[in-house]
Amino acid sequence: MTGSDKTQGLAGRRLLLCVGGGIAAYKALELVRRLRDAGAQVQVAMTAGAQQFVTPLSFQALSGHPTRTSLWDSAAEQAMGHIELARWADQVIVAPATADLMARLAHGLADDLVTTLCLATTAPVMIAPAMNHRMWEHPATQGNLATLRGRGVRVVGPNDGPLAEGESGPGRLAEPGEIVAALANHADDAPSVPQDLAGLKVVVSAGPTYEDLDPVRYLGNRSSGKMGFAVAASAAKRGAAVTLVAGPVHLPTPAGVTRVDVRSAAQMHQAVFAALPADVYIGAAAVADYTPRVPAADKIKKSSESLALDLVRTPDILAEVAAQTQALKLVVGFAAETNNVAEYARKKLEAKRLDMIVANRVGIADGGFESDRNAMTAYWKEGERSFASAPKTQLADELIDLIVERLNA
Ligand code: PMT
Repeated sequence: MTGSDKTQGLAGRRLLLCVGGGIAAYKALELVRRLRDAGAQVQVAMTAGAQQFVTPLSFQALSGHPTRTSLWDSAAEQAMGHIELARWADQVIVAPATADLMARLAHGLADDLVTTLCLATTAPVMIAPAMNHRMWEHPATQGNLATLRGRGVRVVGPNDGPLAEGESGPGRLAEPGEIVAALANHADDAPSVPQDLAGLKVVVSAGPTYEDLDPVRYLGNRSSGKMGFAVAASAAKRGAAVTLVAGPVHLPTPAGVTRVDVRSAAQMHQAVFAALPADVYIGAAAVADYTPRVPAADKIKKSSESLALDLVRTPDILAEVAAQTQALKLVVGFAAETNNVAEYARKKLEAKRLDMIVANRVGIADGGFESDRNAMTAYWKEGERSFASAPKTQLADELIDLIVERLNA
């Protein structure tokens, strides 16, 4: 088995890492890096003790998500409540699991964020204990271990060897590679992708539009359709009935998605409205704002030094969908911005009367049009959420998480 084979099961998994307050907490940083390399999404929660050893900022930088440290952080709770976070996880890993944390988990306490998350989740929990070897061998700890195992909690480590206090024995945190392998081995234990969009119809637009000038030339743009196709695939995986209205792109149709191919903004407008009614509309297409008033019937000849094109505005599909009298549950637009992202995005949110707008940070080295990766920030009336640079497939899953949250808000 190769290294990547060993971690294959983690691609796309949503892992909640709960960090306990032991010296081995620093190894949890490397764990986050390896889990992300394996394609997992990682969110981190820390006990108060853990924050004495490693800063939340370090985990934030590595995971790409704000680190959760308290039950009483109202800003963090507004973005994603702790119960939602517990529900979000496919797997929970507690590393390092200290003697105290194991005792609190065994007794079902919920006196801080980490214990509350472990009690509230239905996802499989794995612990990676780390402590002094006498604490590990103490009958109290071994009793707690047996209780946790009896409830189906998986255990990785601890390893035998030199400990932080200069002693030696069983109590060393398992190496990050071992923890990743153990999680990958048990990835199948995790519940399958939640079907939280079951029963809902989602319409997604993707790709560019081509506005014909004459039989050989057109006005187009650089959209590849990758972002919109990823969003459609993710919504379908979560149980939605998805219609994908695709501009001219060279991408395979995602599993379980009904695809309608179009070329121009007018055709996209027609196809989107033909796909309604729906519960959710996600406009990821880069629709042309202007189209020739009358496309030339024959090839335009080179006759003078300059050529003026007579263009007219295309219909704003997104704004018209949002203005539907038969209201959708959620209308989400996209916007490509290089600067003043929050200001421009919020203006579009308001002007087009959307429920949410997702602004791409275009102009960065690795993202926006054509790239397999992107970075973006979603804005809605009362909040916003940033998505760090990641593959578009992963961002699509994270965006669908947010859409589910907003639908339930
Ligand atoms: O396709 P990729 O290569 O993966 O790239 C992804 C993307 C950058 C194209 C995508 O993530 C994105 O940002 N799409 C929106 C591009 C954009 O800038 O749109 P806009 O600001 O022109 O329009 C804002 C919103 O109005 C969009 O949701 C758009 O679909 C919608 N719109 C615009 C004009 C129009 N006539 N009708 C519309 O519905």
